[in-house]
Amino acid sequence: MKYLYARTKNQPNMRASKSIHLFLIAICTTFIFSCKEKSQKEENLQTVEVKAEVEEKTKIKLADSIAMHAQATLLANVASAIQKGGTEYAVDFCNTQAISLTDSIADLYTVTIQRITNKPRNPNNYLATAQDSLVWDKMLQHTQEKGKLPTGFLEADAGEYYYYKPIAMGMPTCVKCHGGTEDINPRTREILQQRYPTDKATGYKTGDFRGMWKIKMKSL
Ligand code: HEC
Repeated sequence: MKYLYARTKNQPNMRASKSIHLFLIAICTTFIFSCKEKSQKEENLQTVEVKAEVEEKTKIKLADSIAMHAQATLLANVASAIQKGGTEYAVDFCNTQAISLTDSIADLYTVTIQRITNKPRNPNNYLATAQDSLVWDKMLQHTQEKGKLPTGFLEADAGEYYYYKPIAMGMPTCVKCHGGTEDINPRTREILQQRYPTDKATGYKTGDFRGMWKIKMKSL
């Protein structure tokens, strides 16, 4: 200490250059730290973005397979009902079982499942919210522009997620209950009229856009 003091005391110039050094070091350190902080922030931001992207893809994949599970279950059940008693019997089956079947699949995954449309047979299946109508229009627009139905859309609203997947008149069987007068047998038409006095779900052709699966999920 003594020695240092002696040296600095004897060399005032050295003292000045030392404080300049210290000053420079301080600036550099601040600069380096702020750089590091910035890159850390950028990195965090990137991690958050990547995480959100992965979560979105996972949600879409999960919801899509839930919709496919529901679709396959309905199809298998309608097909066996038709085999058992023809379309007239199957209408009653759809009338009493369609919603409870999709509800039981929804319980399996703790989600809510609906089939909705702009021309419903069952009035409970009408496009109910502003978001439903917006997504419906988006699907129509996509179909017009790309010449085919989209795979699906994920929407977020108030912390909840909604996955919409289009339903096409994908099989020739569909027109037996949703087609024109010539496609639906008279007895089936009669039963449809009885069960669904406000039925709007006829006049479709094979391949038409018929409705949407709507899967509501809280989070992952
Ligand atoms: C045996 C007759 C029958 C057949 C075949 C049939 N449906 Fe339906 N469909 C119904 C009935 C009845 C309902 C109303 C169910 C209810 O009350 O929830 C319905 C409802 C729907 C709904 C829900 C919206 C609405 O209109 O209420 C969609 C979407 C739908 N059907 C699509 C299809 C598609 C696609 C096919 C072919 C793969 C098909 N249906 C085959 C009888 C049928």
